[in-house]
Amino acid sequence: MKRSDFPPDFTWGTATSAYQIEGAVQEDGRGPSIWDTFSRTPGKTPGGETGDLACEHYHRYREDIALMKELGVNAYRFSVAWPRILPEGRGAPNPKGLDFYDRLVDALLTQGITPWLTLYHWDLPQALEDQGGWPARETAYAFAEYADLLSRHLGDRVRHWITLNEPWCSAHLGYLTGVHAPGKRDLSLAVRASHHLLLAHGLAVPLIRRNAPGAHVGITLNLAPGHPASPDPADVAAAQRFDGFQNRWYLDPLFGFGYPLDLLELYGKVTPPVEVGDLEIIATPTDFLGINYYTRAVVRNSPLGPYRFETVTAGQEHTAMNWEVYPEGLLELLRRLSREYRPRAIYITENGAAYPDAIGADGEVHDPGRTRYLERHLTQSLAALQEGAPLKGYFVWSLLDNFEWAEGYSKRFGLVYVDFATQTRRLKASGRWFRRFLREAVARP
Ligand code: FCB
Repeated sequence: MKRSDFPPDFTWGTATSAYQIEGAVQEDGRGPSIWDTFSRTPGKTPGGETGDLACEHYHRYREDIALMKELGVNAYRFSVAWPRILPEGRGAPNPKGLDFYDRLVDALLTQGITPWLTLYHWDLPQALEDQGGWPARETAYAFAEYADLLSRHLGDRVRHWITLNEPWCSAHLGYLTGVHAPGKRDLSLAVRASHHLLLAHGLAVPLIRRNAPGAHVGITLNLAPGHPASPDPADVAAAQRFDGFQNRWYLDPLFGFGYPLDLLELYGKVTPPVEVGDLEIIATPTDFLGINYYTRAVVRNSPLGPYRFETVTAGQEHTAMNWEVYPEGLLELLRRLSREYRPRAIYITENGAAYPDAIGADGEVHDPGRTRYLERHLTQSLAALQEGAPLKGYFVWSLLDNFEWAEGYSKRFGLVYVDFATQTRRLKASGRWFRRFLREAVARP
């Protein structure tokens, strides 16, 4: 598997998100986000770690762009911190917040790296959470205003827009299991949140298109095949429920099929607050579907919880997140999406792995597990492409080791190792492998 096996115009990138790398949380007029509040709440992250400093990317972005240049990527997926642009969530923009993303985008373009902008990667302005957060319909309208403002500002330079990153996480981890900000635990809040996230996406798409003519606009979902732990019909049904919960609840309405009936039945009285016209807005056609793929789920029937399934540990190989290494799941997913949903294009907007990296005696970070992980997932991506999946690009999660949400700094996903005490960066062996991989085709006649 070589780069030259992929089409010449394939997008090759690395991905990050604002709260995970920027730091500078109180600088230049940035307002607080739900992740500032949550990470400062005792017991929510290991040792109370926060994104206060993170990778100090806010100040070191030039160095980080130089690292991307060194890797040889042609695209960079980053997110904009909504509370930098609108410290109170709505109203007048903060010019210094806009300035930062101007500088970032301009520096990327100067280096020939295409900016891929995600509008929302989980850092809701705290002021909006105080007014009800995603369970409140108004938040969807606030998002549309923010998308409008930002695409007016950057639409002349940014051509690739992702509305939301993983609305499943925002809704379910934020409002049902409470392991992510804002840490609520209520099924009806989670279901309301999921609907308003989807609505927010649908409202934003035409605004971005209007402000950034010719732009490619899409959404990123975290999808995972769900396999039954046994052939027992109860486990098979549990896997179906998992699929509804994780995949179809988002895919179906986005592609015009409405919310899946089996899940609506399962939720019973807890219904998404759909108003007339919402489903049409949510199903506004997009230019691409972004997928973040890390692992599959193996599930069995369980009497517990609203979904009545539990995931079980399967397979032999696991990353530091305890996620099974299961590259075949990526091919399975790409096949299914191509067949059942027919997106115009698919981009793998995240794929990568955490391993317990350390600097060796020779000063190098040896991370063969990560290289292997990436190679195997690229091999599956290539197989999907050769079968006709409309796969157009691939982004490694992540450029840098960073603040891994509820795991704090304990989980390292970077191609670049970050020493958080000194903020020094060094390319891991996997980063060097990726650089060689990317350079190969360029060198070929
Ligand atoms: C995804 C998130 C990303 C990162 C990776 C490991 O769910 O989008 O921010 O945390 O997982």
